[in-house]
Amino acid sequence: MKLPLPPLPTALKPKPKRPGEAERVKPLDQAKEAGIATADWVDERTSLSGVARWTMFRKVPKGTNWFYTLGSATLFAFLSQAVTGVFLAMYYDPSVTNAYESARHITNDVFLGEFVRGMHKWGSTVMVILVCLHMARTFFFGAYKYPRELNWVVGVVLLILTFVMAFTGYLLPFDQRSYWATIVGVNINGTGPLVGPFLSDFLRGGAEFGSTTLSRFYAIHMLLLPGAIIALIGVHLYLVTRLGTTAPPWLRVESGDGIREENV
Ligand code: HEM
Repeated sequence: MKLPLPPLPTALKPKPKRPGEAERVKPLDQAKEAGIATADWVDERTSLSGVARWTMFRKVPKGTNWFYTLGSATLFAFLSQAVTGVFLAMYYDPSVTNAYESARHITNDVFLGEFVRGMHKWGSTVMVILVCLHMARTFFFGAYKYPRELNWVVGVVLLILTFVMAFTGYLLPFDQRSYWATIVGVNINGTGPLVGPFLSDFLRGGAEFGSTTLSRFYAIHMLLLPGAIIALIGVHLYLVTRLGTTAPPWLRVESGDGIREENV
């Protein structure tokens, strides 16, 4: 049985509206108003809402499907790597004497260290898989053709940078496996035509593996490559927004002059 609620004390009872009194504004509405006013203030001075509208409220071709989410999925994998990487960098020491110990310390002693390191490790594999699937999607949907050739080329550079990111990150735990696997990887690079020997010398930071190799891999992994990837993702997304995405090939219509048009 539901018991009746006890009566409210007079102080807590809502006061009846007096004639001529304005509608009482609730705290939630006040908070909403404050948010809108702040956004308006910023927009009046920067016109950023135009950019937001341009990037987010776009027409997409008919037939857009789940395969079109692979690019964004790659982007989120990259963001997750960036965030977890920042936390790992707070504890990691890129010196030959301390690297292994600092990685062990992250896993065994630091709060959530094993989780964050695991996210970063598995995240790298996920990003490599996603970027390959995304490339396959754009290839099979013919998105590399006019007018998107430049975006395909930017994508190829992003693909290479993603691989180099995974390769340079592999050495950082500095255990037996990562050490020997990196030696094999650098030697394979050295067999490339013309540039091969220079490339392997550059990666080693000299003729032999040493402390310079580790600090060089670390600098490339956490400064050079993320910077380049962020800049190129910016160009990549600008071109996606500017040109729109390709319609699936089975929905493209052939116009009279033989030029394929997209069914928006
Ligand atoms: C870090 C890596 C990358 C990120 C974050 C990324 C992100 C994106 C996003 C969000 C889109 C729009 C949505 C979609 O179509 O999936 C896109 C489109 C595109 N991407 Fe990437 N991408 C990356 C790598 C690549 C690679 C490796 C290639 C090819 C070599 C590539 C080629 C393209 C092309 C051609 C488009 C236009 C698709 C269309 O017009 O339908 N991208 N990318």
